[in-house]
Amino acid sequence: MFALEEEDLVEKILLGASVFRDERSLFPEFLPQKLPRREEEISRLATDFRPLIQKKGSFAINIAITGTAGVGKTAVARYCGTHIENAAKKKNIAIKFILYNAHTFRTKTSILRNLLTDHFNVTARGFSDEEILGMLVKRLEKDDMRLIIALDEANLLGSEEILSIIHASEVFGIERSRISTIIICRRTEWRAILNAPLSGHIHDQINVPGYTKDELFDILSYRAQLAFNSGVISEDIIDMVAEIASQTQNARHGIEILLRSGKMADYEHFNEINAELVRKAKVGVYPELRPDVLDDLNDHELLAALGLARRLKHHGITATTINEAYKYYQIACEEREGIKAQSLSAFRKYVHRLDSVGIIGKAVGPLGRGRRGRRARITLYDLPATVLEERVLKIFELHNKK
Ligand SMILES: Nc1ncnc2c1ncn2[C@@H]1O[C@H](COP(=O)(O)OP(=O)(O)OP(=O)(O)O)[C@@H](O)[C@H]1O
Ligand SMILES: [Mg+2]
Repeated sequence: MFALEEEDLVEKILLGASVFRDERSLFPEFLPQKLPRREEEISRLATDFRPLIQKKGSFAINIAITGTAGVGKTAVARYCGTHIENAAKKKNIAIKFILYNAHTFRTKTSILRNLLTDHFNVTARGFSDEEILGMLVKRLEKDDMRLIIALDEANLLGSEEILSIIHASEVFGIERSRISTIIICRRTEWRAILNAPLSGHIHDQINVPGYTKDELFDILSYRAQLAFNSGVISEDIIDMVAEIASQTQNARHGIEILLRSGKMADYEHFNEINAELVRKAKVGVYPELRPDVLDDLNDHELLAALGLARRLKHHGITATTINEAYKYYQIACEEREGIKAQSLSAFRKYVHRLDSVGIIGKAVGPLGRGRRGRRARITLYDLPATVLEERVLKIFELHNKK
């Protein structure tokens, strides 16, 4: 009996409804067909590699891509790599793009060996680096092929290894060089490994800037469209996720929140993603709330937090105004014996304090569903409203016991 019920449970989950059209499109390894808002970087990289397709003969092009986390460095390189391969094919030029992440491939030797065995079907075991390189260069000449090797997280290789990969193709004469590189690295790490010999080999350095909220909104709208069934996620909710991710300017931050909140929706059998789910998902993705911040607040600040939490707990509400939140604060005060609600201007001060300790966010922007105009609005980024409510009530409980 029990076994049967368990089976049913699994079946129910596996065969049940889902908010996802294609969940995997939010996985880290997924490369979308388009990269909105990265047209400039894509064009620049393509321009850098134009000579590979335009000119006869062989030569190497070495490009560095730098920037902070989640700004699309790897995605831009992979996107261009595949498109360069395809464009070259149309001109009957063989170009192969291969990306190596230095987390997995830690040395020039491991990269060369993998190149030969996995991509050219040649056993590299027992040969020295020089011999392997000789075989590779011969093979590239025989096939009249050019390679573009992307070295991702290249700082883990270090400048020596990077240089030796760049040099590798030049060993048999620079005019026979058939290996180009794209060196991908976070900006600060790039500064740390960049030295004169290395910079002498870099033809262009593309600095990829962090994403603004508007850019993130476009990117996340596109990614949500690929991942979710229609009607699952509203523009308001995407806007909320974009705003959260804009704090780090990191697209991965937003994409992970989309994935998690979708999973939570499935788990709770919701057919849409609401603000509360996003708030919960956000905590899992970026656990930023310090548990002790509430302890430093006075009673009225806590009641202001409680009022805000209750206001923002409602389905479909991502942000509120001072006036709306004030009403909830007044109710929260009425519930407590011996506490009288303070004036609206005092309430503003409490909200200001909650903002300065990082419990809430204040921004100027469009209001929630169906409302027009741009006004100061208050949002909860760091923890779900229900969790905030719970924690505030717990503090009052403790106080009462004293
Ligand atoms: N313009 C964009 N359009 C669609 N998706 C994007 C865009 N930019 C980034 N992404 C997605 O965001 C995530 C992070 O991008 P990516 O891995 O390229 O960042 P990165 O700059 O290489 O970060 P890291 O330094 O951490 O390696 C990926 O899932 C990627 O597909
Ligand atoms: Mg990357």
